[in-house]
Amino acid sequence: MNFSTKTLDAKTAVTAVKTGALVVGIHENRKLDRAAAALDKLGAISAALKSGDITGKAGSTLLLRGLTGVAAERVVLLGLGPQDELSDKNFAAATAGLVRALATLGCDDAALLLPLDQVKGRDLGWAIRNVVLAGRDSVYRADALKSKKDPAPAGVKKIAFLTSVADASTAKTALAEAVALANGMALTKDLGNLPGNFCTPSYLANTAKKLAKDFKLGVEVLERKQLEALKMGSFLSVTNGSDEPPKFIVLKHLGGRSKDAPVVLVGKGITFDTGGISLKPGLNMDEMKYDMCGAASVLGTFRTIAELGLKLNVIGVIPTCENMPSGSATKPGDVVTSMSGQTIEVLNTDAEGRLILCDALTYVERFKPAAVVDIATLTGACIVALGHHNTGLFTREDAAHDQLADQLLAAGRSTGDTAWRMPIQDIYQEQLKSNFADIANIGGQPAGSVTAACFLERFTRKYTWAHLDIAGTAWKSGAAKGATGRPVPLLTNWLLDQVASLKE
Ligand code: BES
Ligand code: MN
Ligand code: ZN
Repeated sequence: MNFSTKTLDAKTAVTAVKTGALVVGIHENRKLDRAAAALDKLGAISAALKSGDITGKAGSTLLLRGLTGVAAERVVLLGLGPQDELSDKNFAAATAGLVRALATLGCDDAALLLPLDQVKGRDLGWAIRNVVLAGRDSVYRADALKSKKDPAPAGVKKIAFLTSVADASTAKTALAEAVALANGMALTKDLGNLPGNFCTPSYLANTAKKLAKDFKLGVEVLERKQLEALKMGSFLSVTNGSDEPPKFIVLKHLGGRSKDAPVVLVGKGITFDTGGISLKPGLNMDEMKYDMCGAASVLGTFRTIAELGLKLNVIGVIPTCENMPSGSATKPGDVVTSMSGQTIEVLNTDAEGRLILCDALTYVERFKPAAVVDIATLTGACIVALGHHNTGLFTREDAAHDQLADQLLAAGRSTGDTAWRMPIQDIYQEQLKSNFADIANIGGQPAGSVTAACFLERFTRKYTWAHLDIAGTAWKSGAAKGATGRPVPLLTNWLLDQVASLKE
């Protein structure tokens, strides 16, 4: 699906816009919005409204063909809900209706003449992003491994946003950001959906190398020998039972000034999580191919910011391996030594995400980061706490971390990719006491997502850090099973905000 912006200057009449389908808004009180009124030369639109063929309810649509005096082949009336409150909810419903309607048309292109800057509490960029993401999602297919491909998307292939002269440059920038974001999310979804026999640690490393080549990024992939030399005993203990070699990926997008400290994103890359010797039950175990969605979101975010040429230094770090049971696998009770020197009693080999992340979090100290954010499908307990709506956000509680948390929460809210803050406090650390090592890798049933975050916290004391638990938000189960591309919108928006705040 292809998107563009077109300016409609004062001299160009709405009736003269040449397109397969011109989309205009209608409100619930059956009033035409300005664009629709300008189109309603001979009263055909008013007549359609009067007849009750369209209510104006958000997302309702009506197709009118061959209107006299209108250059567009079709006019699509799109319900926007009540006139006095174009809420973000109603706009999203309208967008969904729009995408459905455009998929049924016989023309190739459409032009949108909608009140994109009128959504309450949102801006033009928000509305454009909404439409682009919904459009791209509607044509997304996960059929790479099907011998007979899913039906190709029907209907409109090209969508133009018509904007005023005053809005033109804002719209253009917003569209570029939205398309780059959709591209990044598509990569994240593709990687997540790809099964573990294809998406191996080596596959993720090759994906990173390809991204680096295509977008001129720095990339380094550390192999087992180098990880041993770095003394990443915790990470390596997770890969013991697997025949696939582990990889440690470092990606660099250095778009900022050389003296600016980088932002570091660390993504959990377990390409399949069987639980190891603490084997998971069989039901839905296939979904543990998604246990690399943190890594995929880092790669997707890099795809986005590289396309945008973001003026910020960003480093991505991905520890990736499989978690398998075998004769050589780590056993419950084994004690391993992390890169930080802290020893860890592995009471449950299924709490492996924190074991690979802790060494990555120690490794990134060398970058003297401005901030570190790790992204991980870390705990089932996070789903119990927050369901599938919000990503769990964990930070310490001091001024610097409160600020980072607020930034991430805001970036999530403004993209609909929301997070909710959870505590990291010393009282929970007690649950991680071990009789035989410095720390245990599990903290028991209560507050499972919090104790997982508290485990990571012990490895992050040299910098400002946030942890995103995306176990509930990275993919959907059931009939609509598939990766969501979250939290690429949150991360991208946060990075964009960082650039804006550097300029101030
Ligand atoms: N990858 C899982 C977390 C997970 C589970 C994500 C279900 C999404 C859905 C993680 O490695 C894991 O197995 N965590 C354990 C931790 C427990 C052993 C303390 C869990 O959540 O059960
Ligand atoms: Mn696990
Ligand atoms: Zn896992």
